[in-house]
Amino acid sequence: MKHAPRPNGYRDAWCGQLTAERSGTAARVSGWVHRRRDHGGLIFIDLRDRSGIVQLVFHPETTPEAHVQAHKLRSEDVLSAAGTVARRDPENVNPNLATGEVELAVTQLEILADADTPPFPLEDASGVDESLRLRHRALDLRRAPMQERIAARHRVIATMREVLNARDFLEIETPYLTRSTPEGARDYLVPARIQPGSVYALPQSPQLFKQLLMVAGFERYYQIARCFRDEDTRADRQPEFTQLDVEMAFVEEDDVLECMEAVMEAVFAREGFAVPPPPWPRMTFAEAVSRFGIDRPDTRFGLELKDLSEPLGQSRFQVFSGALAAGGVIRGINAGARELPRSELDALTELAKQHGAKGLVWAFVQEDRALRSPIAKFLSEPEVAAVIERLEASPGDLLLIVADELTTVGQTLSALRMELGRRFGLIPRERHDILWVVEFPAFFWDEGAQRWDAAHHPFTAPTGDLDDPGSLTSRAYDLVLDGAEIGGGSVRIHRRDVQQRVFELLGIGPEEAQARFGFLLDALRYGAPPHGGIAMGLDRIVAALTRADSIREVIAFPKAASGADPLTGAPAPVDPAQLRELGLRSL
Ligand code: AMO
Ligand code: AMP
Repeated sequence: MKHAPRPNGYRDAWCGQLTAERSGTAARVSGWVHRRRDHGGLIFIDLRDRSGIVQLVFHPETTPEAHVQAHKLRSEDVLSAAGTVARRDPENVNPNLATGEVELAVTQLEILADADTPPFPLEDASGVDESLRLRHRALDLRRAPMQERIAARHRVIATMREVLNARDFLEIETPYLTRSTPEGARDYLVPARIQPGSVYALPQSPQLFKQLLMVAGFERYYQIARCFRDEDTRADRQPEFTQLDVEMAFVEEDDVLECMEAVMEAVFAREGFAVPPPPWPRMTFAEAVSRFGIDRPDTRFGLELKDLSEPLGQSRFQVFSGALAAGGVIRGINAGARELPRSELDALTELAKQHGAKGLVWAFVQEDRALRSPIAKFLSEPEVAAVIERLEASPGDLLLIVADELTTVGQTLSALRMELGRRFGLIPRERHDILWVVEFPAFFWDEGAQRWDAAHHPFTAPTGDLDDPGSLTSRAYDLVLDGAEIGGGSVRIHRRDVQQRVFELLGIGPEEAQARFGFLLDALRYGAPPHGGIAMGLDRIVAALTRADSIREVIAFPKAASGADPLTGAPAPVDPAQLRELGLRSL
């Protein structure tokens, strides 16, 4: 830490500041007992504050009083100690510690608070149940890896602000108590006391407000915004999470992408995270899905999908011909020369089923270029030859094939591809790939609801004529880092008539549109500039930079995987009187 503390009764220096240049001087430090060692009459305490660790030493002869007190100290006790910074003997120098050349010979010790034995070891929490860590989060956050992740999060936000401030952006807050701002998840609702029976919704994103800020003429807006989405929590999803939210007026796709490349390049550089320099490659949605089965491809390794619909579409194997006849596809990947036992092939089949496939065909290419596979007997020689050719397979290779409707095949094979990539160590850990995915479909047909749905959100501008919704792409873009979607945005609809037609298409009639989004439609009447923007998933970015397995590791107080908070016990029942005041009754 660069800025020394103001000298007071507790301290005049950070623990980490006591380096060799300070030897011979007096110092007072405060912090937590990291570790205590008793050694030939001497007591050593590693004292920890945010800046680091310094060794305190207590001599029984010269400072008997402090020595007696030090005897009582236990891990995580809080103390203040004054003494003289002394050079350690050369054989006692600790090269792993910034302060390892010195120690503080303590003359005066004050114990400020004592600590019970922590419920888990702070040194190594790797095997500790996550809910126990979350339950005692203040202790968990004391651990060095957590301190570093939370500090990294701060630096990332600071860098984002610096770059955007230098580009004339204004940071503007938007409300949390509002009406639904749809991003495809369920809303969190807050009952309103002032109007019993009515609710506020917590925003799924600041989308509508940032568009209003463009109509208002602010031109360039950003916000570090909390978003609330009631959806199932996962490693990369939290019910409340943080976006760097950005919007710009009079812009096209390239303007937003260039701006975000500048922001993210600065973030990566400051954190020493090596990504290729911008401009970053752009891949169409169609290419991503056809090569990788997914719209957020991890392009750091091969095992790409190949289409086998043509060579296998007339197959005697009913699963293949049937899938094609039903409008589906047949695709496969060449997993390379892997000798997997039957049990592992069954496990891969199970994984395929978890992703919605009805099964998985596996096949090994033999020396004679025939296939060893449960379905080998159904395949003709030309079919086998064509499969081998399309998958560029050689003897020994394992081929995996799925037949189903397009989305299921993509999801399944992309999950298998990632699993094989991890299992066989194909994903280079020190290389990072970043790319834009562009030209998303604008709308997809929701079979259940029998209507069109927006692929991104209803405010994204489609390219072209709304008469043929299924053929339209949208002006949306996602930023993908190592197979994770870390941001997404679009150029918006800025014309009221187009916005109204999109609402109609999505089955939102004029009255409903007016009721839910009237404030946006009204604003579009009074001169809305063309505009566009993006939102970056801050938690996911920091998790990637710090190599955390889950975004819960980079949020100070996250929800558990269940969505509940083991720390506070939220969500919790509420006093009936409080419910009455809100005009509510509990079930
Ligand atoms: P979108 O819904 O794509 O776009 O969200 C933008 C980015 O936010 C992150 N993200 C999440 N992170 C953690 N937990 C979640 N539950 C979660 N959901 C999303 C992702 C994602 O890329 N208003 C638009 C942006 C725009 O059009 O400008 C929006 O919210 O990294
Ligand atoms: P079945 O005819 O259901 O016994 O399946 C024969 C083989 O085909 C098994 O190995 C299944 O896992 C596999 N299989 C079944 N359905 C599919 C599918 N849709 N795509 C790929 N393989 C499948």
